[in-house]
Amino acid sequence: MNSNALSPIGVFDSGVGGLTVTREIMRQLPNEKIVYFGDTARVPYGSKSKDTIIKYSKQIARFLKTKNVKAIVIACNTASSFALEEVRQEVDVPVIGVVKPGAKVAVSKTKNKKIGVIATEATIRSGLYTDFIKEQDEQISVYGKACPLFVPLVEEGWTNDPVTVEVAKRYLEELKNDDIDTLVLGCTHYPLLRTMIGNLMGESVTLVNPAYETAVSLGEMLLKNDIAAGNENRYASEMYDFYVSDAAEKFKRFANSILPFKIEDISQISVENY
Ligand code: DGL
Repeated sequence: MNSNALSPIGVFDSGVGGLTVTREIMRQLPNEKIVYFGDTARVPYGSKSKDTIIKYSKQIARFLKTKNVKAIVIACNTASSFALEEVRQEVDVPVIGVVKPGAKVAVSKTKNKKIGVIATEATIRSGLYTDFIKEQDEQISVYGKACPLFVPLVEEGWTNDPVTVEVAKRYLEELKNDDIDTLVLGCTHYPLLRTMIGNLMGESVTLVNPAYETAVSLGEMLLKNDIAAGNENRYASEMYDFYVSDAAEKFKRFANSILPFKIEDISQISVENY
């Protein structure tokens, strides 16, 4: 085993959304330590320009490097869509995003070669899901739909609310008419609406959760690079560190509503200094 194996994995997102990815990493790779950064001062990324998203992502990568991370997971779909290569150039550790793993599984699931992707405006605009899907099979048609209201609704805790159902119906109607058989939940927050989206789309549509698939890819990548942690790395409460750029208390409430255990300490940092 490589000496880096005991170092943590850096995971970052524009805010709380990346906790859906973190949750999957905790479940699938319980020996791995995690340093999480949520850019709560500058969220949302989904409505920002490419240059801004790249600038923010590079600052965060530099911050995570100071925590001696052995790999970085860009848990944010928007940052993965625009800044994956730039983050890779910034650091000397392996970096993975959430888009490729999600696209790969979608391709393996579709039978009628019609895949829908729901995501932020920026992710849809980037066209990266479409590129990755078509790279694997150019016969596949990809139908992208931005669903910008989902993020604030989830953050408001309205995951089971009639208002959210109504909004979802409007967003998803078009995709239902496109006759897709696979739908990628291409934004960190959407797995939290999975049941509702599944009910609206019906049983014939397979939902793909890139958060889950990213944890699978991360596990494979750690083994390939010989940097996977063994059992000896488990110190329970010392395994996970959380950093944010603002509103630590609000972050904590959200984190404690979706993570499998209670987190107590969250540190606030000035990420623009990195
Ligand atoms: N984390 C973002 C994503 O997955 C959603 C929130 C935002 O717009 O920053 O695209």
